Amino acid sequence: MSATAKSPEEEQLSFALRPARLDEYVGQSTMVQRLRISIDAARSRGEALEHLLLHGPPGLGKTTLAHVIAAEMGSAVHVTSGPALTKGTELVGLLQRLKPRDVLFIDEIHRLPIAVEEFIYPAMEDGRIDIAIDQGLNARTVSIALKPFTLIGATTRAGLLSAPLRSRFGLTHHLEYYPPEDLLRIVTRSASLLSMRAEAGALDAIAHRSRGTPRIANRLLRRVRDYAQVRAAGLTAARTVDEALSLEGVDALGLDELDRKYLRTIVQTYKGGPVGLEAVAATMGEDAGTLEDVVEPYLLQIGFLARTRRGRQLTADAATYLGVSIAGTAPSPAPGALFEEA
Ligand SMILES: Nc1ncnc2c1ncn2[C@@H]1O[C@H](COP(=O)(O)OP(=O)(O)OP(=O)(O)O)[C@@H](O)[C@H]1O
Ligand SMILES: [Mg+2]
Repeated sequence: MSATAKSPEEEQLSFALRPARLDEYVGQSTMVQRLRISIDAARSRGEALEHLLLHGPPGLGKTTLAHVIAAEMGSAVHVTSGPALTKGTELVGLLQRLKPRDVLFIDEIHRLPIAVEEFIYPAMEDGRIDIAIDQGLNARTVSIALKPFTLIGATTRAGLLSAPLRSRFGLTHHLEYYPPEDLLRIVTRSASLLSMRAEAGALDAIAHRSRGTPRIANRLLRRVRDYAQVRAAGLTAARTVDEALSLEGVDALGLDELDRKYLRTIVQTYKGGPVGLEAVAATMGEDAGTLEDVVEPYLLQIGFLARTRRGRQLTADAATYLGVSIAGTAPSPAPGALFEEA
């Protein structure tokens, strides 16, 4: 039950559940208030919104927000992603097609190739692109003026963005994990859009198992809806949620098999840590980037994991959860371990 999007079908369904306007966007209230001011100010001046960088763990609503902002600005959104833009010319084409005040949304902007980034700097700063034509003695650069536009970049790893790129965003917002109350509002809205019949406690149980993440909340809701339809004559009770989600391997804290495997690996193979992320990933046969983006942020958030200079270390809470002795996770560095890199 990872927070990353899986199939095109899921993208489709989650599109249907997406809030369209800022006042339907649940939670993140500080960010929403600040955004509303920026949007109103830009609108009343007839300008494009300043370039905006959104960062935070996957599934918290960055893509949704980009669409919402475009709707609030009364403009169109053009969607692309860092890895999809392999050539500078592709970006140039996109930029030239933008109408005044349009939004260009670049997902995973930390994966933008350097060659493409170079086109972005003057586009963001001065509203122009510089294109080199001819070579050798005839070499020259032509400058093409762009319409005023807003670049919205989304990233799960703000730290991987180059400093020149980061500094060209006028606005930066961090998305936080959602508290259960906000997730409850999100699943309640989704349940009504999906015409589900649910008892009061049932949706709350889903909210509490969603790892603070709207995408997971909506996904669990759909699993529960299927289960209720087949096993409970369409009525979703709290017990139905328990049954459906334990079938999915989601426990009372919302942790899934991958989370548990990660925790078990650190306990069983590395005595609770500290251990480098690469070592854990290799033992699990998983990609280190996935663990860092999808698994670790929530475990850090709930205090199951600590990131120390010498690597990942499980906490006493994690040990209790796993039912292992806390002594096993106490920091007992072996000789030489001090020189290991995180
Ligand atoms: N604030 C919110 N209010 C209501 N629903 C939300 C909110 N944020 C996200 N959602 C729901 O969660 C789902 C996932 O959101 P979205 O695709 O925007 O995540 P994301 O942050 O872009 O994730 P990723 O980083 O993986 O692209 C959407 O279908 C949307 O319905
Ligand atoms: Mg997205």
